[in-house]
Amino acid sequence: MEDKARWVQGMFGRIAGRYDLLNHLLSFNLDKRWRARTVKRVSNILVRPDARVLDLCCGTGDLLIALNGAFGSDFCHPMLLEAQRKSASSPLFEADALALPLKNNSFDLITCAFGFRNLANYEKGLDELLRVLKPGGVAAILEFSQPTNRVFGALYGFFSTRILPRIGGMVSGSPDAYSYLPESIRKFPGAEDLASKIKAAGFERVEFERMTGGAVALHLAYKATSY
Ligand SMILES: C[S@@+](CC[C@H](N)C(=O)[O-])C[C@H]1O[C@@H](n2cnc3c(N)ncnc32)[C@H](O)[C@@H]1O
Repeated sequence: MEDKARWVQGMFGRIAGRYDLLNHLLSFNLDKRWRARTVKRVSNILVRPDARVLDLCCGTGDLLIALNGAFGSDFCHPMLLEAQRKSASSPLFEADALALPLKNNSFDLITCAFGFRNLANYEKGLDELLRVLKPGGVAAILEFSQPTNRVFGALYGFFSTRILPRIGGMVSGSPDAYSYLPESIRKFPGAEDLASKIKAAGFERVEFERMTGGAVALHLAYKATSY
């Protein structure tokens, strides 16, 4: 495992107990809406009784629970313990998103909420999604992105670099985790660029929608039916 991945794994392990509280607090509860919108966008798959669904980088399980019956996977043990505590019936397994212990063409839907940005190698992450999805399957990537409006962008930039790290650091007791967060968002490709990466990885089609002024984006990546 690369150094970045090992650091990310340890960092999430340290904040697992306070992760949900800080998520809701620092997003003004908007994180719940972002996940709810994601579930709504993939509801056409979720209603299929035979749909096999995986929530990748499931963390403490908030999206996983809303997906109702999905498999959850993460490489951080303390985060998975939180998910298990919240949803004892969810099937969970510990795995690196870059090397999933799953067969080719085995899932109809793979969701990934706020996990993809943390991967040490985005191309490899997309390759894994494509490999594990069935032909015609969909990957739903919900991630932080770049605000499109300059004024909102400036306010958001101030909040995320000056206020968020202080509150996050204080409440979690891990200042490094909450200075990593805005830094990782800044380095992450914008919505258009991420869509290009998804296409370049071999997905047949990609669509995305921005939420909260572009602070967050949901990408839906479609694997060709004839893959
Ligand atoms: C910001 S949390 C998101 C958790 C959850 N999906 C949510 O919506 O709150 C990111 C999660 O991705 C996981 N993660 C990061 N890199 C990973 C990797 N390479 N393999 C598996 N999990 C990874 C972390 O352990 C962490 O639990």
